[in-house]
Amino acid sequence: MANEIKRLGILTSGGDCPGLNAVLRSVVKTSTRHGYEVIGFLRGFEGLVAPVSYMTLDYKNTEHILNQGGTILGSTNRGRFTAKTGIESRKTIDHDLLDEAARTCQQLQIEGLICVGGDGSLSIAQQLFERGVPVVGVPKTIDNDLSATMFTFGFDSAVDCVTDALDRLHTTAESHDRVIVLEVMGRHAGWIALYAGISGGGDVILIPEIPWNFDNICRTITERDRRGKRFTLVVVAEGAQLPDGQLVTQDAASVDRQVRLGGLGSVVAQEIERRLSRETRAVVLGHLQRGGAPSAFDRVLATTFGAHAVRLVIERRFGEMVCYDPPHCASCTIQTAIEKLRLVDLQDATVIAARAMGISFGDMESFEPVFRPPV
Ligand code: F6P
Repeated sequence: MANEIKRLGILTSGGDCPGLNAVLRSVVKTSTRHGYEVIGFLRGFEGLVAPVSYMTLDYKNTEHILNQGGTILGSTNRGRFTAKTGIESRKTIDHDLLDEAARTCQQLQIEGLICVGGDGSLSIAQQLFERGVPVVGVPKTIDNDLSATMFTFGFDSAVDCVTDALDRLHTTAESHDRVIVLEVMGRHAGWIALYAGISGGGDVILIPEIPWNFDNICRTITERDRRGKRFTLVVVAEGAQLPDGQLVTQDAASVDRQVRLGGLGSVVAQEIERRLSRETRAVVLGHLQRGGAPSAFDRVLATTFGAHAVRLVIERRFGEMVCYDPPHCASCTIQTAIEKLRLVDLQDATVIAARAMGISFGDMESFEPVFRPPV
């Protein structure tokens, strides 16, 4: 009797991040052992529609990619399959396009389509699932802003990159008695700024979750001066709103992509210089945070997610997304995962520790002691 073909599809969608290739390798290794062939669609969901583009993934072409940044399948975070536009509004994907993608999967006899993406891409995956495609989700993003999983891969590598940048800025800021403002990514969540701010010794951390003002930042700088610390490192999350609630953006909203955040670092640096007459510099780390090799943690997480995604396909648990619920790799419905963003919880141990040791979040609470003896 001829062997029945068992075929999996996989695609990487949205902004890339370190660890995507580790997922591909893991999916190939795991599924091959369970009798599957793997088709990798190119440039995210675009590969599913005319001109359909894919490559067969096997042991050979996924060799030596565990430590490679980016994705060998390519990715896109704009175009016909953009589910998030403007400032975070959701869009329904054109039904003809979804039907065409569904037909491609049927024609290629895809038993399960593994969609690796952030919340925008997962909301496309959910729409495909609702049109009958056997979809399984794998969360990825440097922003770490998916509510259902404690960590997404890519985040740890981005934090490593920002930490390294802060280490470097530390020595030059100290030598010149300067204030240096480092703007980091993360969209509307402050995770990268928070974690890297702590690991890189930031003195002020501005995140979207905590309203801040310039008086408080300047007070922190002046108090540091008084203590003989004549330099200050300010870490700014790109999505931290100005005191009047405005976001600083690079361009206007568009119909096929989200607003590009960016520019807050230089606004903050200019205002500090104006108020304190202190030499202040702004540095924007940008896409350096998304490139390069995944950290060891991200390789492990991505590998675990890949294997678990194959398990979900084998167990026919479509419409579900892999998530990390330490110490387990679990799953939840994709719908649940995209319903709300995971923002920094102000009771998070890292926020409390940062406050306790005097890192300023630019608010009044930053000047209060955190721990008190019992009354
Ligand atoms: O979501 C990941 C992310 O890197 C954000 O942190 C950042 O705001 C955005 O993507 C940048 O997107 P683009 O690659 O389109 O510039």
